[in-house]
Amino acid sequence: MNQSIKTIIAERRSIKKFNGSPVAKSDVTAILDAAAWAPNHGNREPWRFIVAAESGLNEIRDTMKECTIQKWEEMPADELEKKTAGFKLPGAFVFVIVPEDVRQKERLEDFSAVSALIQNAQLLAWEKGIGTCWKTPVWIDAPKFRQALDVKPGERIVAMLQFGYYDELPKAKARTPIEQKITFFG
Ligand SMILES: Cc1cc2nc3c(=O)[nH]c(=O)nc-3n(C[C@H](O)[C@H](O)[C@H](O)COP(=O)(O)O)c2cc1C
Repeated sequence: MNQSIKTIIAERRSIKKFNGSPVAKSDVTAILDAAAWAPNHGNREPWRFIVAAESGLNEIRDTMKECTIQKWEEMPADELEKKTAGFKLPGAFVFVIVPEDVRQKERLEDFSAVSALIQNAQLLAWEKGIGTCWKTPVWIDAPKFRQALDVKPGERIVAMLQFGYYDELPKAKARTPIEQKITFFG
């Protein structure tokens, strides 16, 4: 059944609880390949990706733990329990990396193009039954984390995309009626 773009956009949800099933490298590659049709100015294709799928997931989790500001071992037991109860790793991680152009206009364009690509990827994954969550934890800029991923000077990790299968569909949070956000000029 063909769904309208409107329905696909509205029905996609961020998935924050995964069921532990792995996501294949080939699926991640196919999603990124199609997502890269995102508009990007000057055809700079200002993106590259570091992907952990099928392997490397535990290493990413360990590096994340090391870079978290409040170390998990220092958290009160009940808080840790609340944070980690039923926690399962996503089926894959995709780190989206953008060059930080020194020119202000190009930098804005490149960050915007990458955002379009990320939303494409979320919708394409959704179509395959793979949930995603776009995350920007503080430690994506941590030198230790950047070093672990071999992110070069002049590059920035803009997003950690979690991909994975899920059992429960979260409820949508209602959006503000768009009329309240629009000012017609003139
Ligand atoms: C730029 C950006 C950063 C986000 N960072 C996080 C994050 O760090 N942690 C998180 O749980 N969700 C994060 N999200 C997901 C949003 O919380 C989510 O999109 C929002 O709750 C709306 O839910 P929906 O995507 O199901 O409509 C981020 C989303 C965007 C666009």
